[in-house]
Amino acid sequence: MENKGFKDNFYWGGSVSSFQTEGAWDEGGKGLSVYDVRPMKPEFSDWKVAIDFYHRHKEDIQLLKEMGCNFYRISIAWARVIPNGDDIPNEEGLAFYDMIIDELIEAGIEPMICLYHFDTPNHLAKDYNGFASRHTVDAFEKYSRLVMIRYGDRVKHWMTFNEQNLHSMMLKVSNAEVIPEGMDATKFLYQVNHNIFIAHCKATKALREVAPDALMCGMNAVTIYYAETAEPKNAMFARLANDYFNHFHCDVFATGKYPSYMINYLTNRGWMPEFEEGDAEILKNTVDYIAFSYYRSSVLKTEEFDQRPPVDILNSATVQNKYCDATEWNWEIDSIGFRHITTDLYHRHKLPVFVLENGMGHREELDSQGNVNDDYRIKYHKEHIQELKKSVVEDGVDCLGYITWGPIDIPSSQCEIAKRYGFVFVDRTEKDLKELKRSKKKSFGWIKKAFESNGEDL
Ligand code: BG6
Repeated sequence: MENKGFKDNFYWGGSVSSFQTEGAWDEGGKGLSVYDVRPMKPEFSDWKVAIDFYHRHKEDIQLLKEMGCNFYRISIAWARVIPNGDDIPNEEGLAFYDMIIDELIEAGIEPMICLYHFDTPNHLAKDYNGFASRHTVDAFEKYSRLVMIRYGDRVKHWMTFNEQNLHSMMLKVSNAEVIPEGMDATKFLYQVNHNIFIAHCKATKALREVAPDALMCGMNAVTIYYAETAEPKNAMFARLANDYFNHFHCDVFATGKYPSYMINYLTNRGWMPEFEEGDAEILKNTVDYIAFSYYRSSVLKTEEFDQRPPVDILNSATVQNKYCDATEWNWEIDSIGFRHITTDLYHRHKLPVFVLENGMGHREELDSQGNVNDDYRIKYHKEHIQELKKSVVEDGVDCLGYITWGPIDIPSSQCEIAKRYGFVFVDRTEKDLKELKRSKKKSFGWIKKAFESNGEDL
């Protein structure tokens, strides 16, 4: 049969994290997470209120419904359901997510749960150095089982760690782990990363036991790396960057073991993590599909993957792409790179792929009529959906859905509300919460059309 577009049960929707939406940082019996105690940049906001989804969820879920979403990914704040991460569950926190899941289903929106979006309970960070300790790995497994037992009857899509590859790229992402004095920072980084793999696989195993009909994915942040020139040395360097930063995690998720290129890269530099007894077996808990976020591509000049920390090498090799426009935050906009990586990931793993975050940050204000004319956002999503469609129609990719990041404005990962991704404007500034009033931007009507026509009417 001729393949013309997205399949009938294709998912369209949004994804968010708990700390960027919920607020209510000290309500409902919630414990502290590392985000609640993290020093903030003075020019930005803090996480105390975010967009107050905790109290405004009904209005927001109605907006998502009206937008045409049939899928929404939330994350659970670990410290909301187990205040210290490893102590007694907090019924009020568990009941909050029961309510959100039920409201989403009621609105015709399938919920997905992300178990961890960088927000380690502060107690586990402070007293155990986060995922540097197997205590935190075990606590994560218990937490996963708790919520899987609680929500597994209604939630069929699960993921463990948001953008798991970031854990091997920067420790500061969660502010949870501190490099022990005298230890090689990169060795430590890959050990923490390994422990997180074990936590991911233990949770995957738990899901198979608790909710056998539910699906588990592995999720990466992918930034496709291009060589700056046609010089073969440059192409090889870019290819290695793609392996080390984009493919390593997906290879482990899909095959259940470290790929040999990574074993050799790490071993040759003294960075191979220590495996505890049973780790190799645990890693065999593979996923059902590969999920990823995609925002941009990046261009690299030639460098060497020598003894320097890999992320330092990446940063020093990055150059501007003269063919792509960039956002104010210098994220290069590249819809063709989106097709490239989607197709690569599918054919590499022969597993369905799922785009769980895509979008562009832009500084915006309401105009005198109370509108935001965000044509640039319409263009961004249009081009990305068109390229995704090519990966399905031309390249034969089995893609489960296209999920946008932050469909209702939320503060950025740095807690900068000025960097907005949404189709709905939330009226607040970094320091002034105002009324947090929601209003539809121009792109709202456009994305609704795109979602409701299953990507036909662009
Ligand atoms: C992803 C994260 O990396 O990108 C989100 O999962 C984040 O937490 C999003 O907000 C967009 O990045 P930023 O820095 O623009 O908010």
